[in-house]
Amino acid sequence: MTADEARTLGQGLLAWYRRSGRRLPWRETRDPFAIWVSEVMLQQTRVETVIPYYHRFLRRFPTVEALAAAATDEVLGQWEGLGYYARALRLHEGARAMVRRGEGLPGSVAAWREVPGVGPYMAAALASFASGAAAPAVDGNVARVMSRVLALPRPRLAASARAVAGAIEAMMAGAGDPAEVNHALMDLGATVCRARAPRCGVCPLASLCRARSGGDPERYPAPEARGRGPVLAVRIHVIRHLGRVLVYRRPPGGILGGLWAFPARFENEGGLAVEIPGVTWRAERQAFRHVFTHQTWQVTARAGDVARPGPAPDPTRWVDAPAVDRLPMGRPDRRVWAWARELGPATVTL
Ligand code: ADE
Repeated sequence: MTADEARTLGQGLLAWYRRSGRRLPWRETRDPFAIWVSEVMLQQTRVETVIPYYHRFLRRFPTVEALAAAATDEVLGQWEGLGYYARALRLHEGARAMVRRGEGLPGSVAAWREVPGVGPYMAAALASFASGAAAPAVDGNVARVMSRVLALPRPRLAASARAVAGAIEAMMAGAGDPAEVNHALMDLGATVCRARAPRCGVCPLASLCRARSGGDPERYPAPEARGRGPVLAVRIHVIRHLGRVLVYRRPPGGILGGLWAFPARFENEGGLAVEIPGVTWRAERQAFRHVFTHQTWQVTARAGDVARPGPAPDPTRWVDAPAVDRLPMGRPDRRVWAWARELGPATVTL
């Protein structure tokens, strides 16, 4: 792509963005903390879902200092329902590291890369949105747009990624505002240059798009082999004693890491099976599927009562039933709890 072509594309793109781009709350601010929160939430979650969480989170934690000073459970509580809780823990850890260092929020791509949990895409996005750096932020949508414009089937391969970044930088140089170029490419990917049925008729890049001139833009990018991972059978146990319930905190790092959970028996390792003698189980069971990105759980749940419990086996503990409502939990455990909470005392020994 020549510099002239890049200028033409960049200017067309920004004219389109100003007419048809999305107005989103994190685009109305230059506060790097607020933009950081938005980018972490948007990592694996759709825009419409993120908006109410974004407002609520910033009302509770308006500054990096407020977030750093908060207890982990409170941060997880504000995150509950968004999923992918490791993101919240990393955000919290990043805020604490920043406040400890005392140098304020980063202002460049390189400085953002020093923050735990901030990868190359996010560093570029943050530096461009908050500080106007001319850094291409290539997320999945943008990679698809550029794969088509440049007819590169695998835009993430190193040589192609350099070509993608070079073309975006050239558009930024030709068009002006780098943050707007990044936002415009994201919106184009989300609303026009969609994975299926792209709307080339309204695309500001169509005149120079090589995939389009080849006649079949959907051929780009090449499909990747991917699946939802294995299906695991999981048995979740709600064990009760006189208004108290046995829970534990899942270890950090793994799936639902750092969240509270009920003891569970997994088909493979990964849960926490506890042996509590003398549990009277209810016959009722709840069964459902929960789909994560890399695995699916086929959950069955049971609730039971124990008459004479010993001390809670490590790392579990007994908590009052009403307190369970306030513990940050993953969706499968929360769903089991919503069911188990309504049950009367155990009646059946299984
Ligand atoms: N996804 C990641 N960052 C985004 C942003 N700033 N606007 C819309 N979608 C996004």
